Amino acid sequence: MVKIETVGVVGCGLMGSGIAEVIARAGKQVIVREVEESALEAGRKRIVTSLDRAVEREKLAPEERERAWDRIRFTTRLEELADRDLVIEAVIEELAVKNEVFGTLDRLAPEETIFATNTSSLPVTEMASRVQRPDRMVGLHFFNPVPVMKLVELVRTIETSDETYQRVLAFARSLGKEPVSSRDTSGFLVNLLLVPFVLDAIRQVERGMASIEDIDTAMVLGLGHPMGPLTLCDFVGIDTFHRISEIMYEEYREVRYAPPPLLKRMVVMRRYGRKSGRGFYDYTGDEPVPIPI
Ligand code: 3HC
Repeated sequence: MVKIETVGVVGCGLMGSGIAEVIARAGKQVIVREVEESALEAGRKRIVTSLDRAVEREKLAPEERERAWDRIRFTTRLEELADRDLVIEAVIEELAVKNEVFGTLDRLAPEETIFATNTSSLPVTEMASRVQRPDRMVGLHFFNPVPVMKLVELVRTIETSDETYQRVLAFARSLGKEPVSSRDTSGFLVNLLLVPFVLDAIRQVERGMASIEDIDTAMVLGLGHPMGPLTLCDFVGIDTFHRISEIMYEEYREVRYAPPPLLKRMVVMRRYGRKSGRGFYDYTGDEPVPIPI
């Protein structure tokens, strides 16, 4: 089996930058692409901060940090990703945008190049149906923060070949990740359980059953979760969570996946969570402070 050694990552946001960093730290060459210079610069800074943090915490030797950094190239040109063994797409959670990326790559890349999407909830098969290589398309879903979370979900469609699956499985392991396999159903393994759980926590807030802080404390101290559901929703992004729940609701038509009104209202007010400074909590001070609803 031919090993995957060179990788392209499309998108250098929260997920794309983390994915590029993890690949470079695993000793592989990676090119990461953003649409414009300012977004690329933001991604570059995110990777630098994360690598520095790993050095500070003695998880990464300073010379290893330099070597990892040297393995990452940044570009705004999708064409530069065409000669890679594997291209991982990590752009926004919009099917049309993802299809456009894969459509362009499909014309540019040699037929042996494997395509992977980091989608959390959109159908991988839809993307595979638009390219000339559906057998060489998988879902490869990382978790935030990518350098820390050990899991990746490897999603196999009804068209994915055994060879593609095995090569990407070996690649995911070579990154030090623990892959689990999922069929192509919206939410895969983690979000299928996580999304209704977090949405129920939001519904509790809506109904005034308990305070934001107490709901989070209950799950942290009662179940040993690293973060309570509302803190996690702020961490992932209120807008991202809303989008995922909409996609899952569309797929299953079950009320449990429907975004609660409060979540919709928070999106309208751009209370996106940690990244915008306000969500269920206010992050503008030293410590997060719950904002009563
Ligand atoms: N980037 C890189 N490294 C980070 C980081 C970041 N953004 N945030 C934390 N870390 C590292 C720290 O350097 C530290 O590393 P070390 O243990 O090797 O020294 C480690 O993570 C722990 O960090 P801290 O001690 O500062 O903080 P915590 O102990 O509070 O842990 C956390 C932070 C790892 C984020 C922990 O709170 C956690 O596991 N939270 C849950 C995260 C989670 O559930 N993620 C999945 C979200 S769902 C998702 O991504 C899917 C999508 O489709 C929605």
